[in-house]
Amino acid sequence: MRTQVLIVGSGPSGLLLGQLLATIGIETVILERSSREHVLGRVRAGVLEQGTVDLLGEAGAAARLHAEGLPHSGISLAFDGRLHRIDLTALTGGKHVTVYGQTEVTHDLMDKREAAGLVTVYEAANVALHDFDGTPFVTYDNDGVGHRVDCDFIAGCDGYHGVSRRSVPEGALKTFERIYPFGWLGVLAEVPPADHELIYANHERGFALCSMRSPRRSRYYVQVPADERVEAWSDDRFWEELRQRLPPQTAAAVTTGPSFEKSIAPLRSFVAEPMRFGRLFLVGDAAHIVPPTGAKGLNLAASDVRYLFAGLREFYREGSEAALDAYSAKALARVWKAVRFSWWMTTMLHRFPETGEFGQRIQEAELDYLVNSQAASTALAENYVGLPY
Ligand code: APR
Ligand code: PHB
Repeated sequence: MRTQVLIVGSGPSGLLLGQLLATIGIETVILERSSREHVLGRVRAGVLEQGTVDLLGEAGAAARLHAEGLPHSGISLAFDGRLHRIDLTALTGGKHVTVYGQTEVTHDLMDKREAAGLVTVYEAANVALHDFDGTPFVTYDNDGVGHRVDCDFIAGCDGYHGVSRRSVPEGALKTFERIYPFGWLGVLAEVPPADHELIYANHERGFALCSMRSPRRSRYYVQVPADERVEAWSDDRFWEELRQRLPPQTAAAVTTGPSFEKSIAPLRSFVAEPMRFGRLFLVGDAAHIVPPTGAKGLNLAASDVRYLFAGLREFYREGSEAALDAYSAKALARVWKAVRFSWWMTTMLHRFPETGEFGQRIQEAELDYLVNSQAASTALAENYVGLPY
């Protein structure tokens, strides 16, 4: 088989890149290790920057997003027993974010790809990248049969645990990592949200987040130790703990109910440099991971895709590799700003026992300064809605 761009991974990065390339007639094949059902079964974050919404529109996959997505003009920080609203729209000259589950984004992009009859090979095993410094090709097994795909380029959209980054020669890659000493225990429940906007809570018992998927479906998180087991958390224990970490009036507004999804995610910051190796380009989680506190994971994947799409479009239309040559530096410049912001939000809002009372006082001072300074609130707001591409 031959194609122009071979995409490894059918997550948001791979699907969005495939759709954008399809709009300009560039052929792609996606190789996905898991089944379609497994990919759609993943529960991930759900806050989209306007740039991400615009890209999904350009890919022709934003109809449901426009119909069901929830525009949000603010978020609240909860500390000292009360809510402190950050007016994102007022502070950024009219910008907002859209709450819409990543699972829905993935579903919309998959539906679009299938409707166009584009090739995705699910349960592609043993994907291996070859000669991406010369004439690239990829091999894989499917139903016990070995296959080869020759291509012009490989887009490594296969996430943190994928094969693409691991295929880069030893020493050609520099990585940066910070692992946080806690995780997020998250639940999904078919109950109305506690508030019409997101609430990020700093509490002496630990961080909590009140989010949502729709007016009828809530998404909540509480900080737990890194080695915590989800089996130790009944729904009752979760609701009790969540309420203890929220201001009284917010806690009273929490509607409890049976969770239909409950899981613990570890938190890490990770960046791999560079993001290009000859004809191989790393995209999204394959190149970087951020703690979900800043809701940047999906949005960074989208900006990587935008830069790579622009480079591939220039190559196929004009024969120039200038934008492809600039991809890594351009993507990393935005990645590191989002990594900083996500680290900052995480450091400000979570409990770090090892930093002691001094660290606690610094957090309190940071929060007090943040909600009482227009400059500080504006800095949070412009990062949260998304820095320019
Ligand atoms: N071969 C083929 N496919 C693979 C391989 C492999 N060796 N390894 C992983 N994959 C697939 C995974 O099964 C997954 O479907 O690659 C896809 C990677 O998708 P994501 O991990 O969702 O990464 P990305 O598309 O970059 O999206 C980033 O997802 O994890 C969240 O917070 C993150 O919101 C961000 C978004
Ligand atoms: C979510 O709704 O899952 C969510 C929202 C905001 C975050 C993280 C997760 O910062």
